[in-house]
Amino acid sequence: MPKILHNNPQLNKNGELQHLLSIEGLPKSIVNHILDTASSFVGISDREVKKVPLMRGKSVFNLFFENSTRTRTTFEIAAKRLSADVINLNIQASSASKGESLLDTIDNLSAMHADMFVVRHAQSGAPYLIAKHLVETGQSHVHVVNAGDGRHAHPTQGLLDMYTIRHYKKDFTNLRVAIVGDILHSRVARSDIHALTTLGVPEVRAIGPHTLLPGGLDQMGVRTFTDMNEGLKDVDVIIMLRLQSERMSGALLPSAQEYFKSYGLTPERLALAKPDAIVMHPGPMNRGVEIDSAVADGSQAVILPQVTFGIAVRMAVMSILAGTHG
Ligand code: CP
Repeated sequence: MPKILHNNPQLNKNGELQHLLSIEGLPKSIVNHILDTASSFVGISDREVKKVPLMRGKSVFNLFFENSTRTRTTFEIAAKRLSADVINLNIQASSASKGESLLDTIDNLSAMHADMFVVRHAQSGAPYLIAKHLVETGQSHVHVVNAGDGRHAHPTQGLLDMYTIRHYKKDFTNLRVAIVGDILHSRVARSDIHALTTLGVPEVRAIGPHTLLPGGLDQMGVRTFTDMNEGLKDVDVIIMLRLQSERMSGALLPSAQEYFKSYGLTPERLALAKPDAIVMHPGPMNRGVEIDSAVADGSQAVILPQVTFGIAVRMAVMSILAGTHG
């Protein structure tokens, strides 16, 4: 019997997390619950036995229709540490390359008793479509995690970024956070902005050229700067973004070299931030385009810890979802 979707399709009728599709609209209590649960998983990496049985017998399907290094691998590690069976669908070698529709692929994998789909797709909204389809076909027990959809959202990246900030800065309510670069095409920027404002960060800044700053940032409570030196003044956290050339149509920038001159994070520019500011980057990083190697490898960079925290955060998300029912 098809069910009507709840207003917020991520939550079940009890207000519990049923799918993770976007940070937008997630209650602060759920965001904090995910971060707290992740804390309890961080130490597992240092144990001799790095596994807990929370998802024993569950099947997690990784469906990456777009390339990935960090997200796909850390989801796989996270699911294995939760004792789930993990199936990485090779999209290039799958029937998707023969014209099978996304939802037909989902139906066939559901027929193999999938419990969770982790989905990355170039099309914004693809994970929503899958979640809606599962509800409408009476498969509410199957969970969907958005691992990045188009330029829309990358919620687990947003959550691991929040975990990293909380780890180094402890309290969100006295921070200035700058997000720098190609905000227009960035699903990470969108997820970070929603997470930062949900968690009560009083000042979120977006720094970039006019052509890469989307409209509507003011309404999201974000201060915009086109001058990087001005925007970095006294910030606690700097989140650098990659130029998303694959999502750019037409010439939005003169050249990578010109971009680096105006928006590359160099040691001199980093010195404008607070002395204990941390530097983050979701990866993949383009050295010499948005960030100087001296900063990327410097003492203020927390780029590799972000990746490590990503495992605990993804364990938290999957174990919380696996504990809820439609
Ligand atoms: N941060 C991020 O999404 O990296 P990948 O594209 O390598 O997964």
